[in-house]
Amino acid sequence: MIEMTNLLHGGDYNPEQWLDSPKILTKDIQYMKEAKINTVSLGIFSWSALEPEEGHYTFDWMEKIINRLYENGISVILATPSASKPKWMTDRYPEILRVDETRHRNLYGFRHNHCYTSPVYREKIAMINTELVKRFGHHPAVILWHISNEFGGECHCPLCQQAFRKWLKDRYHTIDELNKGWCTTFWSHTYQSFDQIESPSPRGEMALQGLTLAWKRFVSDQTLDYVKHEIKSIREAGSKLPVTMNMMYDFEGLNYYKFADCLDVISWDTYPTWHKYPDKFIAMDNGMQHDIMRSVKKKPFLLMESCPSSTNWQSVSKLKKPGLLEAASLQAVAHGSNSVLYFQIRQSRGGFEKFHGAVIDHYGGNDTRVFQEVKKTGEDLLALNELTQTVMKSEAAVIYDWENRWAMEGSAGPRNKGMFYKETAEKSYAAFRRQGLNVDLLDMEQELDDYKIVAAPMLYMFRAGFEEKIRAFVEKGGTFIMTYWSGIVDENDRCFLGGTPHQLMDVMGLRSTEIDGLYDGETNHLIPEKKAGFLQKKSYQCEHLCELLKVDSAEILMTYGEDFYRGTPAVTVNRFGKGKAYYIGADVEQICYDDLYRYAISETTIQMPVEGGIPEGVEVTTRVSKEHEYVLVQNFNQEAVHMDLPEGECLVGDASDALPAFGTVVIKR
Ligand code: GAL
Repeated sequence: MIEMTNLLHGGDYNPEQWLDSPKILTKDIQYMKEAKINTVSLGIFSWSALEPEEGHYTFDWMEKIINRLYENGISVILATPSASKPKWMTDRYPEILRVDETRHRNLYGFRHNHCYTSPVYREKIAMINTELVKRFGHHPAVILWHISNEFGGECHCPLCQQAFRKWLKDRYHTIDELNKGWCTTFWSHTYQSFDQIESPSPRGEMALQGLTLAWKRFVSDQTLDYVKHEIKSIREAGSKLPVTMNMMYDFEGLNYYKFADCLDVISWDTYPTWHKYPDKFIAMDNGMQHDIMRSVKKKPFLLMESCPSSTNWQSVSKLKKPGLLEAASLQAVAHGSNSVLYFQIRQSRGGFEKFHGAVIDHYGGNDTRVFQEVKKTGEDLLALNELTQTVMKSEAAVIYDWENRWAMEGSAGPRNKGMFYKETAEKSYAAFRRQGLNVDLLDMEQELDDYKIVAAPMLYMFRAGFEEKIRAFVEKGGTFIMTYWSGIVDENDRCFLGGTPHQLMDVMGLRSTEIDGLYDGETNHLIPEKKAGFLQKKSYQCEHLCELLKVDSAEILMTYGEDFYRGTPAVTVNRFGKGKAYYIGADVEQICYDDLYRYAISETTIQMPVEGGIPEGVEVTTRVSKEHEYVLVQNFNQEAVHMDLPEGECLVGDASDALPAFGTVVIKR
């Protein structure tokens, strides 16, 4: 078995597509070894090859492959095959197919497309999972279970409607409670019993936001229930190996934080559109997604998929410029990944993904640019194996809460043309990252005790007693930054009465009185007060949303420059207990966040990881072991940059010179 003391390098491998070409399968192994590939993910879309007829399992081909991989020192992440089912199954059991929101049942095709509630589907997957465990669960090559693939989507079939009603009953207990929570007297939508409730549909109810929010929560919970069912089948068949499921970029459909307890390892698939915008912005965005994944369990994660060249499903298949593959791969490691895995090892000959990039392309040689870059990345990972003994510690956090997003984006007003929740969260994230801080992204159920500074952008909904956590955090000496449109509704999306931000007006030292939605292209400006000398510009542009504030004990740092609220407070700070609470009233440009956060951090006891500043487009992250700190510095500019690097042993890159475009330096100190 490959020791988990090695960083994993490899990716999705689909040998079932090449069983009639033994020479190719032999070459695969030779090339994997050359590229320092030590792990493959197997069986993700193999259900037809593993069970060509109902109850008739054909595992010999897989056993041969796994044995051969093992003999060559390559480990296996073994998938359960539920992401795509055999045709015979839907022919015999059409009820496993999904029903869409207009209540039409789908035809066979594509992937997933099955109902997570269906007892037949659950039975079929449990049966094959049991067989897979019996045959391979104790094979020394197998190190991890990969549950299905990229869960997503919803089903509105009668079984799901029933399950939804049961879920509602468990949550609300009585129909009166539900009516109250959802404010159903509005438009006369009162229910008399749970049996009357149906999932949201464009042909029916879409306007009752209590219902649409509950449905999103249900879909996420029902998917989780399905995932638990698969894991249970593996455990009952006798495997104790860790399990993971591969998550997706900014995927709104599932509240990933709720999956933390049932998964042993978090993993995800990243496919940024590199070079579409300046890469430094894409790197920042991708870094935030890595950090979300790490924060779900607050543990190192696995990068399960990434593309060695270009994808074929994005609108344009852009090649990665030389060096970018290595930089993007090491970025994952910098943010806490213990692997760099690709989709895919060998490019398929036909089918939807025949033009999707791979380590080995249709030409079939090892003298390609992509292969050589994969190999170089494999060598870097070997040099960094000791990072598997590290963790990441963050003193800064941004609250980024799925349910908050569902509720805010599902509501009408104050800006139906876009609230920009993710973009706003990313401004706080980027402002911390530009100072070189590691950042955790938390949902409202997590605790704040580990942090010195916490930002809560657009925290429209307060749930899980979050306002009390904030109060205690500031009282004890924490620095807290909140923005406009926060503390507006409770967990049912019902507005708080008596002023907002709910229960925190004394902590923030103000009350939000009104919010102005700005038309596209319309702007206002924030003007720093003289005493706020740390704000370097004379004025900062804002757009989209401007909140009007009535200040009580807070100190005013900026005021509005235009409109009827010109001269009124826009950014403030309040001392509360031993801490400080900042409030940002408008959707202001990034540089304002940068200036404000630099100052707010400097007022804490946080130590910067590097001295002398970080040039734009350069990322600094740190991982720590018991004995050492590892500083990873990456340049996502297309030109070289100079900066003062920390002293220490250089494990990757050249610390004596400028950082080249897409260059990485890893220093151990
Ligand atoms: C992922 C998926 C893989 C493959 C890949 C192509 O979303 O998990 O199976 O389709 O995309 O980029």
